[in-house]
Amino acid sequence: MSGPSEPAPRAGGAPPSKPPLAPTTRELDVLIRARYPILYVNTWEEERVERCLREIAERRRKNLFVWTITQGIVKSGSEPNRAKGGTGSTCDPIAALDSVVDQLEPAIYLFKDFHHFTEDNRANVSVIRRLRDVAHHLRDTYKTIVISAPVTRISQELSKDVTLVDFGLPGTAEFGELLDRILEDVRGKPGIRIDLDDAGRERLLSAARGLTLKEAENVFAKTLVLDGRLTGDDVDVVFGEKQQIIRKSGLLEYYASQASLQNVAGLDNLKDWLAKRSVAFTHRAKEFGLPAPRGVLLVGVQGCGKSLCAKAAANLWNLPLLRFDVGRMFSSLVGSSEENVRQALRVAESVAPAVLWIDEIDKALAGSGGSGGSDGGTSARVFGTLLTWLSEKTAPVFVMATANDISHLPPELLRKGRLDEIFFVDLPTLEERREVFRIHLAQRGRDPAGFDLEALARGSEGFSGAEIEQAVVEALFDAFSGDGELSTAVVANSLAQTVPLSRTMSEELVRLRNWASGRSRLATGTRSESGDGGRRKIEL
Ligand SMILES: Nc1ncnc2c1ncn2[C@@H]1O[C@H](COP(=O)(O)OP(=O)(O)OP(=O)(O)O)[C@@H](O)[C@H]1O
Ligand SMILES: [Mg+2]
Repeated sequence: MSGPSEPAPRAGGAPPSKPPLAPTTRELDVLIRARYPILYVNTWEEERVERCLREIAERRRKNLFVWTITQGIVKSGSEPNRAKGGTGSTCDPIAALDSVVDQLEPAIYLFKDFHHFTEDNRANVSVIRRLRDVAHHLRDTYKTIVISAPVTRISQELSKDVTLVDFGLPGTAEFGELLDRILEDVRGKPGIRIDLDDAGRERLLSAARGLTLKEAENVFAKTLVLDGRLTGDDVDVVFGEKQQIIRKSGLLEYYASQASLQNVAGLDNLKDWLAKRSVAFTHRAKEFGLPAPRGVLLVGVQGCGKSLCAKAAANLWNLPLLRFDVGRMFSSLVGSSEENVRQALRVAESVAPAVLWIDEIDKALAGSGGSGGSDGGTSARVFGTLLTWLSEKTAPVFVMATANDISHLPPELLRKGRLDEIFFVDLPTLEERREVFRIHLAQRGRDPAGFDLEALARGSEGFSGAEIEQAVVEALFDAFSGDGELSTAVVANSLAQTVPLSRTMSEELVRLRNWASGRSRLATGTRSESGDGGRRKIEL
């Protein structure tokens, strides 16, 4: 890059007493000062981008112009001119770019929604060409183009001229400013009571993490309208808002579950592992030097309690459970895009500490179809986004991934460092089956002591937990329709009518066990049926 370097603010410029820039603003400031010609900010928060740029422009004594397709180029802050449709002539994207070149003053140009003209599309050929010329021209000037758009659409040709900027969600300081502004506005208004001590303010601001500035503004206003008060207890309203956002993201859902580890039979190794980490997300553990656990992968036979354990873990740790919908990640409904996944992960981080439950992750892998796939590699890239996040995440988001089909699991996922442990969940042992019967009979209001659990457990070899549960339910129907009470005989009869999946899929099971041995830890502590003293333990 040749030409003049960025001038320091002119004499009398930014006084040293000015507060430091927020991290996102600082990043933009650095790129602008280093004279990156075209920045592309992927965000929904165009107002916030504009505010950041205004701050930078003021400090650097530059003009800030805004381009929209309806108004053309106008000075930031000027009223929209409906009658004339702005300056009219610069509504056209090429005319707008020409006008950027013609301008001599140092300036920042915020182009809103320009992504329609930067995506790979024959209709955009001229705009893209012009943009590349402009990028070349801008390198020797004090002018910068900043494109802000909710999606990333950058044609291949532009990839070297355009710099992508990750515009993080606002931090506590920005929420603090917002809150101050709102408080200032409502101060002294009749019927409004502000009851916010430092601790309450802290709670409110940290609850807002993960919201955009606009969303936070809405929710703060909502709490005021609801009861005319603003207190630390309003975090509930903020959380309510967050749940909505999580729902809107399309990929995540808050999963309310009552499942507890007491309702999970067996799987002692896994349960111990989880129990040991109950305190791992506390402040005390962090001070002690414990790293927040990253996550586990539960691989295993269908219906043996993998999903159940994921739900129970969140309850055990008292953390919110977010279910990541892998199926939808590739559905056209949500749009299989990296942005969506990144956005969902950001939201998950914002509610941290939390458990992120990625159920049936193998489905995503089947979709990603190796390196290329039928969709031009989109799914592979989307899955790559998830993998990268897994290894780089710093927020205490515990990942609980489950899978049945190991044939698609890529080695990258299994590498140490991404997850803490891989557990193999096998068919329940004799004792575990006894326990499954006990749990499911009790859950349906029957006293397990009135049943011969030993006989039932022996009669259900090869059954999964889900199949045992199903047999109990079936037996209940039989008893009810036969006007009798549920008994060992009725349950045994229902078992006899069921062909467990393990029998029809025995080859599959052998393959799964072979894969697991040496790669994973057994979720079950002991396997007494093997007849070898019952201590077959596979260590990672
Ligand atoms: N170890 C167990 N203890 C108690 N109940 C169990 C156990 N395993 C399975 N079940 C019962 O079976 C149901 C289904 O199990 P779950 O959904 O957890 O299986 P999964 O391993 O996730 O299966 P899939 O691979 O098909 O998703 C559970 O809701 C529970 O009622
Ligand atoms: Mg499951």
